[in-house]
Amino acid sequence: VTAPACVFVIFGASGDLTRRLLMPSLLNLAREGLLSSDFCIIGVDHHEKTDESFREAIVSTITKTSQAGAEKDEGATTADATALAFLRQRLYYHTGDFTDPATYAGLEKKLASLAGTMHGQAAQNPANAVFYLATAPRFFETIIAQLGASGLARQRDRAFRRIIIEKPFGRDLASARALNAAILHEVDEAQIYRIDHFLGKETVQNIMVLRFANFMFEPIWNRDHIDMIEITAAETVGVEGRGRFYETTGALRDMVPNHMFQLLSMIAMEPPNSFDADAIRTEKAKVIEAVRRYSPQEAMANAVRGQYGEGEILGQKITAYRASETVDPASMTETYAALKLWIDNWRWQGVPFFIRTGKALAHRRTEIVVHFKKAPGVLFRELDACDYSPGRMILHIQPDEGVSLRFVAKRPGRKVTLANVEMDFSYADYFKANPSTGYETLLYDCLIGDPTLFQRADNVEAGWAVVQPFLDGWADRELGTLSPLEIYPAGGEGPAKADALLAASGHAWRALESSHQS
Ligand code: BG6
Repeated sequence: VTAPACVFVIFGASGDLTRRLLMPSLLNLAREGLLSSDFCIIGVDHHEKTDESFREAIVSTITKTSQAGAEKDEGATTADATALAFLRQRLYYHTGDFTDPATYAGLEKKLASLAGTMHGQAAQNPANAVFYLATAPRFFETIIAQLGASGLARQRDRAFRRIIIEKPFGRDLASARALNAAILHEVDEAQIYRIDHFLGKETVQNIMVLRFANFMFEPIWNRDHIDMIEITAAETVGVEGRGRFYETTGALRDMVPNHMFQLLSMIAMEPPNSFDADAIRTEKAKVIEAVRRYSPQEAMANAVRGQYGEGEILGQKITAYRASETVDPASMTETYAALKLWIDNWRWQGVPFFIRTGKALAHRRTEIVVHFKKAPGVLFRELDACDYSPGRMILHIQPDEGVSLRFVAKRPGRKVTLANVEMDFSYADYFKANPSTGYETLLYDCLIGDPTLFQRADNVEAGWAVVQPFLDGWADRELGTLSPLEIYPAGGEGPAKADALLAASGHAWRALESSHQS
C-alpha cells in the first residue's frame, strides 16, 4: 500500500547517515512503489546549498554506491533509473542552523509552499510531515524544542506531525530520562518514533514469527527445557573514522541497551495479546524490567570488558584501538563487552543469558544460540562418553540469515552410537529479498503511522536501567579493578576472560571461527 502524502524533513542532510542509509532506503521504497507521488524531502543543514546542488550531491552518491554493487539485469537498471528520477525531483534543501529560530520560520514557509504544489490528500495546507533527526545527539533537545516553539510539531486535523530520533538515546539512565521528559514536554508520545535499526532487520522480526506462529517451539521455550541462551553481535570492523564518538561511548552504550536488548526481548518476551504496537512494546518492556538489577559490585562479577590491540583480520593488518585517529593513546574505552544476565520471571528463572558484542573480531556474526537441556541419561547412560551434545537452535541474524537446529541421531552401524546432526534453513534458499539497508521497513512504518518497531519511552529507560550498574562499576576506580580492561588481539575471539565468564557455569560460547552450523 502506498504511504500517505508527506513532507519528509531531514535534519542533518549533509551527514553520513543521510547519504549512506536514508537516501538509499527512500530510493528502495520508491522502487517498490511505496511512496506517494505527493511525497517530497526537505534536507536541512548549515552548509550553504541550493535545491539543485543538494540533488546533484545525493544523486551522485547514490549512483556511485549502486555502481559499486552487484551486476544488475536490464529490468532492474531501468527500475533503478525510474526510482532515482522520482526521488530527484522531490528533493529540496533548506540552509539553516539547528539552534536558530529563523531556520524553523523559513522551514515552515518552505513546507507550506511545497504543500501547495502537491496534489491529492496533501492539497490541504498544512501537510503531513515527518521530521527525521539525523544529527549529532547534542542537537536532539534543541531541535525538538524549536519544532515545538515554532508550532511545526503541532498535529493538525487530518495532518500528522511525527518525529524520528536516531540513537544514541541518552548516554545513561539519567540522561535518557531527561531527554524523554524534554521531548514529552513538546509533543505526545504517539508522535515520537525512536529508531533502533536492528528492528528493521528481517531476521529480527522473524524471531517473533518463529516463536509465536509455530506451536511446536513455544511449549519448550522456558526454564524446564532451555539450559542457557547466548546472544552475539560480533563485528570485524574497528572504530574506523568514528574514534571521537566511540571514545565517549564504548561497546556497552553503543550496542547493549539498544540493539542487544532488542534481541533479548524478542527471544524472551511473553506472547503479546495481539500484534498491536502497544501490546508488543508492553511485553518487551516487561521482560527487560525483569532483568535482574545488579549492584555495581555484582555487575563487576558478571561483566567482561576488552579493547582490541593490533592484529590481523582476513589477511589485513589492523592497528590497535589506542593507535587510531582521535583516540587517547591511554584510552580505557571498551570495544568489547560481555555480560551474564538473569531474567527473574516465571519463564526464565535460573536460565543464564550471556551477551557479547565487540569490534575487530574474527568474524562478522550476529546470532542467538538457544541451548536446550540434555535428555535424562537413562537410556544412553553407557554412551554418555560419546561425542554428542544437547539440542541447540541458532537464529542467524546476519550475515547468512536463517535458522539451524541441532539434534542427536544414531550413527549407521551394528552398534548404537550417537552423533550430532543439523537441520539448516537458509533465508536465501526460500525467499528472494528486495535490496535493503534495514531502514526501509522503519521509514515506511513511520509514514503509515505504525510504531510497533519503534522504542517507547519506557523501553528505552528499562534498557538503560539494566546497564547502569555496569557503567557505574567500570567508571569507579576501585570497583572497576574487579572487571579490568583486557587487551585482545584484533582478529581473534575477544578477551579470554569472556570464556571464563561462561566456563564458571560449565558453558562455552559458540566459537566465532566455527562454520554456519558447527
Ligand atoms: C550501530 C553502532 O548502531 O550499529 C555501530 O553505532 C555498529 O557501532 C552498528 O557497527 C552495527 O549495525 P549492523 O547493522 O552493521 O549490525
